[in-house]
Amino acid sequence: EKGGFDWFMRKEIYEQPKAVADTLLGRHDASGALRLDEIRISQAELRAVDKIIVIACGTSFYAGLVAKYAIEHWTRVPCEVELASEFRYRDPIVGPTTLVVTISQSGETADTLMAIRHAREQKAKVLAICNTNGSTIPRESDAVIYTHAGPEIGVASTKGFLTQLVACYLLGLYLAQVRGTKFGDEIAVLIEELDKIPAAIEGQLGDMAGVLQLAADFAEAPSVLFLGRHVGYPVALEGALKLKELAYIHAEGFAAGELKHGPIALIENELPVFVVMPPQGRDMLHDKVISNIQEIRARGARTIVLAEEGDADAGPYADVMITLPKVPTLLQPLVAIVPLQIFACELATRKGHDVDQPRNLAKSVTVE
Ligand code: F6R
Repeated sequence: EKGGFDWFMRKEIYEQPKAVADTLLGRHDASGALRLDEIRISQAELRAVDKIIVIACGTSFYAGLVAKYAIEHWTRVPCEVELASEFRYRDPIVGPTTLVVTISQSGETADTLMAIRHAREQKAKVLAICNTNGSTIPRESDAVIYTHAGPEIGVASTKGFLTQLVACYLLGLYLAQVRGTKFGDEIAVLIEELDKIPAAIEGQLGDMAGVLQLAADFAEAPSVLFLGRHVGYPVALEGALKLKELAYIHAEGFAAGELKHGPIALIENELPVFVVMPPQGRDMLHDKVISNIQEIRARGARTIVLAEEGDADAGPYADVMITLPKVPTLLQPLVAIVPLQIFACELATRKGHDVDQPRNLAKSVTVE
């Protein structure tokens, strides 16, 4: 049942093009108009929403952080993202015009479930993004968008994460459509770009020699850092989490702009630092991240730069370049996380670890 792969995790990483395509399937008509028929919250109710709170744990929380950038940009509705375990213990401001979006692969995470119960007591509408049909979280929510990743057996989430991102983008675009904050043709263009993602990931997966080499080169590194900005920041957090849980080595993700506010003190000779470059030419962030790379390189870090194809600016300061397919900025996490998943998986298997069942972890966390 591992389909020729030795680990479920490897198989699931390689299934990502299909998982993304399946999650997009049937969600729009030929004109690019979105149809999320399964959302049982009326369009009038969606138009009345004045705040969105995304609630999740772990990797699903990082999908939520990406969702904030996309949802606020497309809908102009304020969107907060909160760890499920923190939500109900701080007396959050939630009411009938709050849309609570929960993200859970398993649909059984106790922290997330408790947050949902609290939100519904305050009369908020709850929409679940979930991969498991009929699980507790969608049953206790007002609406659900199912991700169609198929069963995820590896404890560390991979294809689950990518399909959660897709569901978040679909939700953001759907809200924009319903609330009229984006024109139909703009939505259609983004849907077209989403439809191209499976082929883009397929291309990446066919060319991972550079990443395998990195896993060999850094197998003994005691610590690895990840930097990103904008939607690259949650990618950095997720890259670090994959490495912690699979390879059991210290890893941290930072917003690149925070570097000078503390983390730069960690930089020392030979420390591997992955940097997710924002796409070129769209705003000033690109150049700011180039400066960050120069700063850490000057202090002895080994810089591994993930940049879109054709972006040569980081070349002079990168020890290793990993090329990403060109995609719209907000969609970049879908392609930027793939090499980081493979890096963590390969590094961990080199160390002899069981990547399907990392120590101390369970697939569903059903206690608070
Ligand atoms: C990390 C991982 C966990 C889960 C988290 C939430 O690889 O798998 O961080 O993402 O426990 O789980 P779900 O999405 O099932 O609620």
